[in-house]
Amino acid sequence: MRAKPTLAVLLLSLLLCACKSPKQPNLGEPLADLSRAERAQFEEGKKVFERVFTPQDGLGPLFNANSCAQCHEAPVVGGVGDEIEIHATRFVAPNSCDPLFDQGGPVIQQNATPLLQAKGIMKEQIPPGATAQAHRSTPPLFGFGLVDAIPEATILSHEPRHGAKGEGIAGHANRTIDGRVGRFGRKAAVAALSDFNAGPPGTDPAPDPEITVEDIEKVTAFTRFLAPPPQQIFTNHTDLHLARRGRKLFAHLDCVVCHLPKMNTGPSTSKALHRKTLALYSDLMVHDMGSALADICLEQAHPSEFRTEMLMGLRFREQFLHDGSAKTVQEAIERHDGEARNSRDRFKALTEKDKQALLKFLETI
Ligand code: HEC
Ligand code: HEC
Repeated sequence: MRAKPTLAVLLLSLLLCACKSPKQPNLGEPLADLSRAERAQFEEGKKVFERVFTPQDGLGPLFNANSCAQCHEAPVVGGVGDEIEIHATRFVAPNSCDPLFDQGGPVIQQNATPLLQAKGIMKEQIPPGATAQAHRSTPPLFGFGLVDAIPEATILSHEPRHGAKGEGIAGHANRTIDGRVGRFGRKAAVAALSDFNAGPPGTDPAPDPEITVEDIEKVTAFTRFLAPPPQQIFTNHTDLHLARRGRKLFAHLDCVVCHLPKMNTGPSTSKALHRKTLALYSDLMVHDMGSALADICLEQAHPSEFRTEMLMGLRFREQFLHDGSAKTVQEAIERHDGEARNSRDRFKALTEKDKQALLKFLETI
């Protein structure tokens, strides 16, 4: 005969359940509070994200890769990749930027289908009108549905005219041709997740890979419902102590002025995206980072302006800065210039122990 659980045991298990904090999804998992239907959309979308396209499906004739997951792949699907894209645009000083849509758009396709290769064309050439070209490493897409759900007004409220900034730090939101606030891509030139996945409608003759409107919606659902990276919680005393000190230094050095630790999403029809707080570590604005990092213009971002890179999940990245040219986090910080020069100089002046503390803190986010 089975023993009946006593009231005490029942109460105890109830208490244990209540004490456990809600579980953070693991890397690559969907947001925690999706509806059943949304969860199904995430799974469907993931399949399309991983699907390998062939010339028969409309791939090419020029292309960069044959699936989203070929680039966004590490350490799980939706993450980083070692692929480096080449982009090119035409900057006409002082303020005009031509994305060269009449010459194939800013993304240069570095592969061709066998049919085209047989004709001796191995890849797209840089359009002759371009004034500069840029290298772009493949960024992770974790938590992007929440980034998408941040209201424009929230981003604009951090523009300098709304209050004092750190010394020498300005920055501005980028805007699309139709006036929306940009947030995706290293120059924040794209306003919505669905736009990024689709490519600018009617302008890109060869979106990469070429997929149907229905598949684009599915892929968007995958990126929309992909959870942000879990925060790392140190349990040993030394790391915990260092990371705490590092958090203070991150604020003290004005890193937080650009790498704004948190933003809130607005109202959303999806409960999982509705009025949530995201620890993204970015103001989603573009800042002048100095002439050494400068490359192309895009919409209203000048060659030397870049979106404050979101630092969430930094520990899962393998290379740093927009072109992947920095091999360590420390190198990425030391190459900040322009508006971030002051902050960088103060980082460089830290004692070795304090530098380690700051880097330890960055491992937690
Ligand atoms: C050839 C490699 C490659 C493929 C294939 C690829 N991406 Fe990307 N992806 C990149 C690179 C490089 C960037 C950075 C572009 C930039 O910064 O302007 C990027 C950026 C993005 C961004 C914005 C990231 C940010 O930080 O704001 C999204 C969203 C995205 N990709 C989704 C997709 C989806 C969906 C697919 C499949 C339809 C896909 N990508 C296919 C390389 C790739
Ligand atoms: C003026 C704004 C600004 C300030 C201040 C600033 N950053 Fe940045 N940070 C950026 C921008 C913009 C980028 C993207 C640069 C690029 O991709 O070339 C970036 C990139 C980074 C990266 C690389 C992320 C990646 O994955 O490529 C790290 C790490 C970083 N910042 C840390 C810091 C730290 C630590 C501080 C304070 C000492 C700091 N930043 C201060 C704007 C700023």
